[in-house]
Amino acid sequence: MAKLGDIIDGREISKKVRAEVKAKVDALKAKIGTTPHLVVVLASDDPASAVYVRNKGKAADEVGIRNTQHTLPADTSAEDLLALVEKLNADPDVDGILVQLPLPAHHDTEAVIRAIDPTKDVDGLHPNNAGRLARGDESDALIPCTPRGCIRLLEESGAQLEGANAVVLGRSRLVGRPVADLLTNRNATVTVCHSRTKELPAIAARADVLVAAIGRPYFVKGSFVKFGATVIDVGINRNDEGKLCGDVAFTAARERARAITPVPRGVGPMTIAFLLDNTLIAATRRRS
Ligand code: GUN
Repeated sequence: MAKLGDIIDGREISKKVRAEVKAKVDALKAKIGTTPHLVVVLASDDPASAVYVRNKGKAADEVGIRNTQHTLPADTSAEDLLALVEKLNADPDVDGILVQLPLPAHHDTEAVIRAIDPTKDVDGLHPNNAGRLARGDESDALIPCTPRGCIRLLEESGAQLEGANAVVLGRSRLVGRPVADLLTNRNATVTVCHSRTKELPAIAARADVLVAAIGRPYFVKGSFVKFGATVIDVGINRNDEGKLCGDVAFTAARERARAITPVPRGVGPMTIAFLLDNTLIAATRRRS
């Protein structure tokens, strides 16, 4: 039997992705004389969001992607936020627009997402992009960053996707649904489980590829994992002691998995790496 319990190192793999992006940014600059420009809009006073936004800016700087942050007061009106999005849509020097979520309750999040020009929608959340992905047409779409990161981790781990039984736990727009689409497009046989799924542990235990994206600490027990499966843990939770943990009971799952991502240093670093790549893709399409 193949060796069990390989750790898929998201930090190392994300470095590789960022180096690839940097090389392409340099090549684009040599060709057209300018670099991609990402605009991040922070319209809440959520401290975690402020940290994420700062990290996105730093990572963009490191690969030579210009980035601008618009920090709006948390009481900014829905009209003013939409007006800013329209202004960024119309600005030819803006390649990527990311409105950090969650937004304060007085905003209509769906309306904000739909207002973003799909060609600048580096989160891949606009219905044009989500629809293209769901139809199996990835070539013109911008695809959500975390799902792209999951697929890259699976590829780097040597997991076979074609013909694999893949089980995705979670059906969110940001992760579960797009991951399921990406796996389907790579010829896996995909089952999506969610809060109403009957016999979820038994379904999970048939998975050659198991992606956990439900946001519940240690939800996936060792017994949910088929021997030799590849496990991708998208969860970022706090356990009872306040420590960062995933959706998977890592130690027990690792004893059965062929390969598994840890939390932290698994999927997390891949999200920012693919935000940079999406910005590069948007800029390349728009400017050449
Ligand atoms: N908040 C948490 N994750 C994300 C993300 O991927 N994109 C945006 N826009 N907001 C987030």
